[in-house]
This record gives sequence, C-alpha cells and structure tokens, in this order.
Amino acid sequence: MTTDDTERERRMSGATIWLTGLPSAGKTTIARALAARLSGEGHRVEVLDGDEVREFLSAGLGFSRADRDTNVRRIGFVAQLLAAHGVKVLVPVIAPYADSREAVRKHHQQHGTGYLEVHVATPVEVCSARDVKGLYAKQAAGELSGLTGVDDPYEVPADPDLRIEAHAQTVEESAGALHALLAGRGLA
Ligand SMILES: Nc1ncnc2c1ncn2[C@@H]1O[C@H](COP(=O)(O)OP(=O)(O)OP(=O)(O)O)[C@@H](O)[C@H]1O
Ligand SMILES: [Mg+2]
Repeated sequence: MTTDDTERERRMSGATIWLTGLPSAGKTTIARALAARLSGEGHRVEVLDGDEVREFLSAGLGFSRADRDTNVRRIGFVAQLLAAHGVKVLVPVIAPYADSREAVRKHHQQHGTGYLEVHVATPVEVCSARDVKGLYAKQAAGELSGLTGVDDPYEVPADPDLRIEAHAQTVEESAGALHALLAGRGLA
C-alpha cells in the first residue's frame, strides 16, 4: 500500500470520540478545535454537541438519571451510524454515568465501529470559576439543583483512552493530544 493509500484510509475511517467531563471543562472548545484541524486535513467530521442535541434529538428530556441515560444512549446511537459511514464523530457531552458510557462503547463494539473515550479532567474549582453558562452560580444561589459534579454525580472514567488535564495546557495542546491519540489508532 502506498503512503497515499494509507492516508486515504485514515481519512475514510469513521469513529466516535466521546469527550466526557464536567460543565465548563472545555469539552466543546476542544472538540471544535479538533474538528477544525481534522476537517482541514480532509476528514469528514461531525460534532454532536450536548446543547444542540438536547434541542432536537433529546427534546423533552430532563436531567434525571434516567433522562441523562436516555440522552447519552440516543447520541451514541446516532454517533455510531455516522461513524459507520466514515465520519469522525466528536461528542462533547457530559455523560456523567459510567454505565451509560459503557453501553455506548458496547453498542459501537457490537457494530465493529471505533469508539474512544476521552476524559476532559478539568477540576470542578476551575470549571466553576469559568462558569460559561452561569450554572455554578445559579446552583450556589439555590436557583438550580442537580448540577453535575456539584450536587449531582459525576462518575470519573476509570480507564479512558485518554485523560486530558485540560486546565494545565492550551486548547491547541489538548486538541493536539487528541489528534495524536487518533493517529496512534490509525485514524488521523
Ligand atoms: N485550556 C483550556 N482548554 C479548554 N477550554 C479553556 C481552556 N482555557 C480556558 N478555556 C475556556 O473554558 C471554557 C470552556 O467552555 P466549554 O463550553 O468548552 O465547556 P464544556 O465542557 O463544553 O461545558 P458544557 O458541559 O457546559 O457544555 C471556554 O470559554 C474556553 O474558552
Ligand atoms: Mg459544551
């Protein structure tokens, strides 16, 4: 196989890359940076972002354990379909429960589709100081409850394919680490 063939194969290989982590951890920011880089290299890329998905695919679902699980499984279902058609699907979605994440991984394995779990491991102190959507402030003011990592569970991934200490490096460095992970798996 020539170098051109290998590069083509890497571009054509689909996979789901799930970025899990606390609110304001940097999941969306890092996913968008990686998406831009991959698109520039000729990959087909889709970003299934939590907020956008909740508006359509998961409209009507709330933030109970059951609804969070349904949300994650639905996203996983769509991601697998896309990935099976050669798309790199980046999923910056909190996905707080280990068993929901495991179900998505298994679903991909059953279909022979690549799946990588990335923990964006920004500590809650940093996340709450960023507070991009004002959720931490609302929780502190008693206007909201069930905030992941504060008064709702976040089960830290025990064995992710990659853990990014995103607060200790730049967005470009985090995206670069993810890109290196994909390259190591023959995907980029
Ligand atoms: N090193 C860094 N890596 C990632 N994001 C960073 C970094 N430093 C600062 N930020 C900022 O932190 C914020 C992270 O917000 P972002 O929306 O990406 O979080 P999120 O994990 O998607 O949160 P949510 O679950 O609420 O959607 C952005 O405003 C981003 O610019
Ligand atoms: Mg986000």
